[in-house]
Amino acid sequence: MTTVYLNGQYVPKEQAMIPVEDRGFVFGDGIYEVVRIIKGRVFAWDAHAARLANGLAGLRISDAGAESATLKAVCERLVRDNGMTDGEATVYIQVSRGAAPRTHHFPPAGTPTTVYASASVFKPNFAMRDIGAKGITMPDIRWARCDLKTVNLLGPVLARQAAQEAGAYEALLHRDGMVTEGAATNAFMVVDGVLRTYPLSHYILPGITRALIVEIIREHSIRFEERPVSLTDLHRAEEIFVCGTTTDVQPIVELDGKKVGAGVPGAVTVRIKEAFAKKLYA
Ligand code: PDD
Repeated sequence: MTTVYLNGQYVPKEQAMIPVEDRGFVFGDGIYEVVRIIKGRVFAWDAHAARLANGLAGLRISDAGAESATLKAVCERLVRDNGMTDGEATVYIQVSRGAAPRTHHFPPAGTPTTVYASASVFKPNFAMRDIGAKGITMPDIRWARCDLKTVNLLGPVLARQAAQEAGAYEALLHRDGMVTEGAATNAFMVVDGVLRTYPLSHYILPGITRALIVEIIREHSIRFEERPVSLTDLHRAEEIFVCGTTTDVQPIVELDGKKVGAGVPGAVTVRIKEAFAKKLYA
């Protein structure tokens, strides 16, 4: 039996119910996080909690019930109660503006938020990380506040489905001719010997993994710029990798049916991938 968390209670998954008028369901009016748990320890919690708080503030959702200490304890207990402390797990956390009769504008002040969390066993695909994966490119059709991790995920859903149908792992998105990020990852590429990624802005999610990788890049004195890469340059990149909480560092060795570099993970990517694994499993 799987136990989940809903509004202060730990309940069997089958018994966890939310009202049909929940604004997360009707409008996608909510924020979420996905955190990684390794042997019962929440990885990079403070950064996830800060991003969640920032997202709630951005949507003007009161964070009652979603305080950092409360949610961290929820993650730890879900992993314990579901017997997942031996290996790896992920916890999905969602906070919506709550349930109220449908109006586009906010419901009355005091409407309780809906706070939900659930844990799942996670098995990283180490083989794919070593060998590399395929990617495709897609127009970035998302809204202009991609820095907020909202549950409105139609852009990523359609992009990931297209990737899946093409036998690829990730879709790299482009807006105004520039590569922003992956459908559910941040993207890095080596162009003319310099590692580059899209700068933090409203057009990408400030990835927790991305931030840790930027630290690694600095520690290793790798030539690096936070500067957009054009779609044209992406197609001649020497190396590409994508990163995220459930992706770690994933080399992309084929893009739109053509080899990236030599068609194997490149030297810069492998160096960062190994350094990141050390941080993760420290
Ligand atoms: N992806 N960009 C987008 C659009 C994302 O959805 C994600 C997260 C990332 C990476 O962020 P982080 O490193 O904080 O996970 C970037 C899902 C949650 C994932 O990778 O599991």
